[in-house]
Amino acid sequence: MLVDKERPVPIDLIRDLCDLAQWAPNHKRTWPWRFAVAEGPARARLGNAVAEAMQANGDPPEKVDKTRTKYLRTPAIVVVGSAAGDSPQRSGENRDSVAAGIEIMLLAATAHGLASYWSSCPKGANDTVADICGFEPGTHITGLIYLGWATSSIEPPRRPAPHVHVIAAD
Ligand SMILES: Cc1cc2nc3c(=O)[nH]c(=O)nc-3n(C[C@H](O)[C@H](O)[C@H](O)COP(=O)(O)O)c2cc1C
Repeated sequence: MLVDKERPVPIDLIRDLCDLAQWAPNHKRTWPWRFAVAEGPARARLGNAVAEAMQANGDPPEKVDKTRTKYLRTPAIVVVGSAAGDSPQRSGENRDSVAAGIEIMLLAATAHGLASYWSSCPKGANDTVADICGFEPGTHITGLIYLGWATSSIEPPRRPAPHVHVIAAD
């Protein structure tokens, strides 16, 4: 899908998407979602910081260089983090809740005519990204979401039929 690189995504719309994300189910009401937005030159700042972390991690120079500009592909990048819980179980549940919230965000973005793309935080860059975003130490970066106004659409790939196991009574 192509996006209009010049047309900004209004910050109020991004705030609405974040608000909707928080309707995801959340065990124990820990409110684990953390959001940060990079637009304009902040996207290059984010890319350079991630690239430095990748370089320190021993990634190949071509991969590191590509990262410096990759967040310029859409006018807005929304970083979504998941706060650490008070136990490994709770941290896992927080991450599940944040992932569910991201999916709500993507569906709402699509409904508004935005193209979106969920990408992972590159290996070794989690803490750098959390720091730039002002998230608490220990926050897991669940996704860096690319957002832009779609200028074309593509046929989504067909999904395989789901495997649904019906559990026997005994
Ligand atoms: C947690 C998560 C992390 C992902 N990280 C990446 C990524 O770093 N790079 C990438 O190319 N796709 C990544 N994807 C996949 C894309 O978001 C997307 O699902 C994929 O391009 C297929 O698109 P489609 O489902 O519309 O066919 C990730 C998906 C999830 C759920």
